[in-house]
Amino acid sequence: MCGIVGYIGKREAAPLLLNGLRRLEYRGYDSAGIAVLNGALSVVKQKGSVGDLENALQESGERLSGATIGIAHTRWATHGDPSDRNAHPHLNNAGDIALIHNGIIENHAALRLELSSHGYTFNSATDTEVLVHLIDRMWKDEPSLNLEGAVRRALRHVEGAYGLCVISSREPGTLVVARKGSPLVLGLGDGEYFVASDAAPIVEHTRKVVYLGDGEMAVVTAEGYTVKTVENIETEKLITELDFELGEIEKGGFEHFMLKEIFEQPDVMHDVMRGRVRLEEGRVRLGGIEDYLDRLKQARRIVICACGTSWHAGLIGEYLIEEFARIPVEVDYASEFRYRNPIVGTDDVVIVISQSGETADTLAALRAAKEKGALVMGICNVVGSTIARETLCGMYTHAGPEVGVASTKAFTAQVIVLYMLALALSKGRTISHDEIALNLRELTRVPEKAARILELDSQIKSIAEIFKDAKNFLYLGRGYNFPVALEGALKLKEISYIHAEGYPAAEMKHGPIALIDEDMPVIFIATRDSTYTKILSNIEEVRSRKGRVIAIANDGDQEISSLAEHVIYIPQATGPIMPLLTVIPLQLLAYHIATFRGCNVDRPRNLAKSVTVE
Ligand code: AGP
Repeated sequence: MCGIVGYIGKREAAPLLLNGLRRLEYRGYDSAGIAVLNGALSVVKQKGSVGDLENALQESGERLSGATIGIAHTRWATHGDPSDRNAHPHLNNAGDIALIHNGIIENHAALRLELSSHGYTFNSATDTEVLVHLIDRMWKDEPSLNLEGAVRRALRHVEGAYGLCVISSREPGTLVVARKGSPLVLGLGDGEYFVASDAAPIVEHTRKVVYLGDGEMAVVTAEGYTVKTVENIETEKLITELDFELGEIEKGGFEHFMLKEIFEQPDVMHDVMRGRVRLEEGRVRLGGIEDYLDRLKQARRIVICACGTSWHAGLIGEYLIEEFARIPVEVDYASEFRYRNPIVGTDDVVIVISQSGETADTLAALRAAKEKGALVMGICNVVGSTIARETLCGMYTHAGPEVGVASTKAFTAQVIVLYMLALALSKGRTISHDEIALNLRELTRVPEKAARILELDSQIKSIAEIFKDAKNFLYLGRGYNFPVALEGALKLKEISYIHAEGYPAAEMKHGPIALIDEDMPVIFIATRDSTYTKILSNIEEVRSRKGRVIAIANDGDQEISSLAEHVIYIPQATGPIMPLLTVIPLQLLAYHIATFRGCNVDRPRNLAKSVTVE
């Protein structure tokens, strides 16, 4: 959470920084600020969006012009409310050091006390501000230090997570960055350098990047950069080429990123399978795990760890792997796994799933699993992300950058990856070559079926209009569609702020049925699979309590039209394929309900795209 961007070079820093902030705004958007160095430090920061900051800058633009070094930040509040004074950058009391930070300084209270006793005064309620005073203090204690040395020394006293970027008028041509827990990327231009929380603000300037590792610091000038550990040990860094285009992080004519990303799904589905699904050979080829496939097949048990939408994909993965590969699977919330001393050993495989590849809990689960000796595999979307780098083997989802805070295309891509994995794990063991080939054929038909579902957008929009004022929603599904019910409910609550619950349909009578009355819309995912007749009975139970039924059903299902108030018909497919299709109408429904309610779907309140704090 929080977006960091820094620039040093020959060009005017302020417009570049602002543009960078716009690209990072999905990471946090309750306040924003910028500091540039032009002799002295100039800072403009305030509560609100990057757009609000731009307006403020129009008044103070003169002060910022001419500077070729600066830092900027868009905030997702952890300590201290969203306000002007808590916005970053933060300054030391002399006003000659400016700092932006993403993460949490866990020992901030103790540091604050100590710094106060040395006469430092605090202007914000943030944990971050202690850092800038601490750097100042280190520098004062040892004036022979440079900015790098002062930051390095300060970080020795810090517990917690940080991605930070510091400039100072005492050393005007230097930008110092450091990372522990929170991601940072260095963009290498021609006589200019960029620093950012992710590659989105960098790609329009340069494709060459260096990902900072945990515990590393970079010192950047207009002439070059060095990377060392916080303990001052030189490290060799690989230069990586970015693999996405600027157009992929723009809206491309859609009103919102979320809608664009929902509509991208048929293409994304092709991309995930490209080169991996070998229809002619009736097999999948998964380059990223090939060398470990035998060990994966021999796993005593697979544990999937993830958060949010990725956790829902993990649940579908459990069904797929157990059905096809017959390996026992457990799915755990990463945040629970990391703290509950799980029983995991060397014959277990832990799969971590993360769109961003930076989620703090998932990363901690990964590290805990590694420590216990498990083989750790990753499924990530963001190439070069921390989780992707720290796992032994893994697969990218190739969904392209996902900017909307509500995850959509990343989810379907994760499910396809898990599907391919399940088939790869089955090969030569549990299901025949023909069955694998049959499943692969079904998979390759999904993009076209998904495209047909997207044509239902206007029907789904009119259903959304009818239910936009509902206070609660219930989502019910069985088997493969149960995780989809959870995901549908999550999508609705996160972007429309309507309370929604997902349940296995059969569980309804064990409690949630008490909620049903004429004001309760109930979404049934009622596709024709082995549990179809059971779900019809569940629909009857809701109807007889006057609940309002919206059903997702398969084309040609006449029976359901007499039971449901609204039916969204989707193409027929096998049970395991179904989540890839049934989720799409639910994404669209959530999207339209949220827009009818005037919500900011791409940047829902209190949320951020990348959850890099616990
Ligand atoms: C999805 O819509 C959510 N915004 C959220 O639950 C997300 O899936 C979760 O934070 C995990 O993120 P990750 O996949 O990047 O690890």
